[in-house]
Amino acid sequence: MILEIKNLVKRYGDFLAVDNVNLAIKEGKIVGLLGPNGAGKTTTINTIMALSKIDSGKIFVFGKELYKYEMEIKSKIGIVPQEVALFDDLKAYENVTFFGRLYGLKGENLKNSVKDALEFTGLWDRKESYPQQYSGGMRRRLNIACAIVHKPKLIIMDEPTVGIDPQSRKHILSSVKKLNKMGSTVIYTSHYMEEIEEICDEIVIMDKGKIIARGTNEELKSLISTEDKITMELSGMNYTIVDSIKKIQGVKDCIVNEKFLEVVSKNNSRNLGAIIDVIVNNNVDINKINVDKPTLEGVFLTLTGRKLRD
Ligand SMILES: Nc1ncnc2c1ncn2[C@@H]1O[C@H](COP(=O)(O)OP(=O)(O)OP(=O)(O)O)[C@@H](O)[C@H]1O
Ligand SMILES: [Mg+2]
Repeated sequence: MILEIKNLVKRYGDFLAVDNVNLAIKEGKIVGLLGPNGAGKTTTINTIMALSKIDSGKIFVFGKELYKYEMEIKSKIGIVPQEVALFDDLKAYENVTFFGRLYGLKGENLKNSVKDALEFTGLWDRKESYPQQYSGGMRRRLNIACAIVHKPKLIIMDEPTVGIDPQSRKHILSSVKKLNKMGSTVIYTSHYMEEIEEICDEIVIMDKGKIIARGTNEELKSLISTEDKITMELSGMNYTIVDSIKKIQGVKDCIVNEKFLEVVSKNNSRNLGAIIDVIVNNNVDINKINVDKPTLEGVFLTLTGRKLRD
């Protein structure tokens, strides 16, 4: 385990922000931390960086107890904080150099690492600019460059894509995957379920300071439903399609009337193509297709009775 959190409790005054959290993360994964505003994601992450004092519990990183080996551990973690943290009076490459030095890099190694980080985030051409001359998305990427300059084993990103342009968002998501392929374990916080689904091997759902579910995308969705509902609007109906569709493996039910077709099919059976073939081969026209798949939003709603985003 690269990270182990045991019975973590964190209060702000009387308010219980992290309520007895237990979490173990294996090396080499991209783990998504998903939860609504105020769930306790940032608070949990900050305790991993020893940025905020905990009330009780134990945290082990790289197999060592955090508070005993704080400096050593922190030097192998890279954190991209929720609020962009850059020096406005330093140029982009000077910002990255500052963080590189902080992590103990020197001389040629420092120079090369700064270049690597800026190239990696697609900012090398703009290294001479100041953060204010950057777009919001570029500032985010610069923040990431600062966090990865020392090639950390564990990277923690706290909502790195909030409020940025689609291009930077895409760039950030693909760089998370690349960093992971290069050997870093990534903890990725967001309340965008789409991006969590896209990049994460495993998903941890937090709500009101507690972990309420954990698993792969498929595992979490199987908590609520194992079926897809496919609906179609058809014209020129031929009722013989019903029997043929029912024979397709994975199809659980098929109902039609003159204009509509509803098929309930096993989740992930990928038989939409087969269903379409049957319809087209019987000279029935398809005007509209809709597939309702279980979503993480649905998982959250089922578990809490509330929506992930209001
Ligand atoms: N410094 C603080 N003092 C008092 N309460 C705090 C402090 N920081 C956070 N909280 C409270 O703790 C709870 C958890 O906050 P936290 O920032 O960890 O949530 P989050 O899951 O990161 O939310 P978001 O998605 O909005 O970033 C919230 O109710 C918040 O108001
Ligand atoms: Mg937060």
